[in-house]
Amino acid sequence: MRNYIIAYGVYILTGLILILQTGICYSKSVWDIWWNYEGISGPQYWGVVNTDYVMCKKGRQQSPINIEPSRLLYDPNLKHLKINFTDVKGVLINTGRDISIEIQSTGYNHLNISLGPLSYTYRLEEIKFHFANKDQIGSEHRINGKSFPAEMHLLAFNSDLYQNGTSALKGVKGLAVIAVFIEIGKDINKAFHLISKELKRLRYRGERTMIHHLELEKLLPKTEHYMTYEGSLTQPGCQETVTWIVFNKPIKIAKEQLSALRVLYDGRENNPDLAEEINSRPVMPLNHRVVRTNINFRKRTRLCTMEKDMHYQVNSIYKK
Ligand SMILES: *[C@@H]1O[C@H](CO)[C@@H](O)[C@H](O)[C@H]1NC(C)=O
Ligand SMILES: *[C@@H]1O[C@H](CO)[C@@H](O)[C@H](O)[C@H]1NC(C)=O
Ligand SMILES: *[C@@H]1O[C@H](CO)[C@@H](O)[C@H](O)[C@H]1NC(C)=O
Repeated sequence: MRNYIIAYGVYILTGLILILQTGICYSKSVWDIWWNYEGISGPQYWGVVNTDYVMCKKGRQQSPINIEPSRLLYDPNLKHLKINFTDVKGVLINTGRDISIEIQSTGYNHLNISLGPLSYTYRLEEIKFHFANKDQIGSEHRINGKSFPAEMHLLAFNSDLYQNGTSALKGVKGLAVIAVFIEIGKDINKAFHLISKELKRLRYRGERTMIHHLELEKLLPKTEHYMTYEGSLTQPGCQETVTWIVFNKPIKIAKEQLSALRVLYDGRENNPDLAEEINSRPVMPLNHRVVRTNINFRKRTRLCTMEKDMHYQVNSIYKK
């Protein structure tokens, strides 16, 4: 209790210092700058002080989660996901906390995601990467407790109900996020090269550059199988309005391409070279949620034996 009070005090102090430093009164943007992945502004504290982030602490349908293949529920009603691919154009940003691509699209060029577990059409708005400075950790979701070196998120908002991502976040069924695990492979991933080659120039927080003609179709794994559950954003304010779709197969990028991602630095002027160790939120409790899948395990297991490693069971049994 005592420690908690002290931590809480330091916490408020950090907030105040931030406010004083930036010379403005309390505003959302101060907190936007404040949160991080380590220490006193790390995930355990996100929802403690700022009321806008209360779901990070009190929410009971939070993401990411650990997916246990043995507890997946096969749902024959789940359709194949429909993605209307277009050439993706956007701004690649080193936010200091993740690597993001803010999609720029107009009219008929919107990349739409529908069907699968979704009742509405969702429009791609942002791509984000989560990773760490070692290969053993990095992904946000886990399979049987195991992490992948990185995870890509395609964030899309419900364009049937909302005008933009900001209003979708405040509503129901606001977002759909496709999660793709990233593994290390032998070869250079050509589709990812467009991103990794630019990252070498985006060393510090806030640096950005335009990306043209990202071939998302080639970047995604060739699979029709996924796992799905209802959860939240994995960054503040952790809004519980996300339908997660986690593909059962990872994509592979070369080791040097993974290293190219590791450009998140503390960003403070007096300490510009302090690299962030990880930008993944720890897994959150499932709290009786069901993770559904369109993989018919029963049918398949008659043909294939369970392999030693569950993490590969989900990912490799269905390789064509
Ligand atoms: C996707 O494209 C097909 C044509 O290829 C079109 O009929 C369909 O309406 C599109 N769906 C969405 C959600 O944009
Ligand atoms: C996506 O949906 C919008 C309507 O919301 C439509 O104008 C656009 O053509 C669709 N994009 C594709 C690639 O089908
Ligand atoms: C988002 O849409 C709402 C209306 O639904 C509008 O008031 C708001 O200005 C829009 N925000 C942005 C950033 O375009």
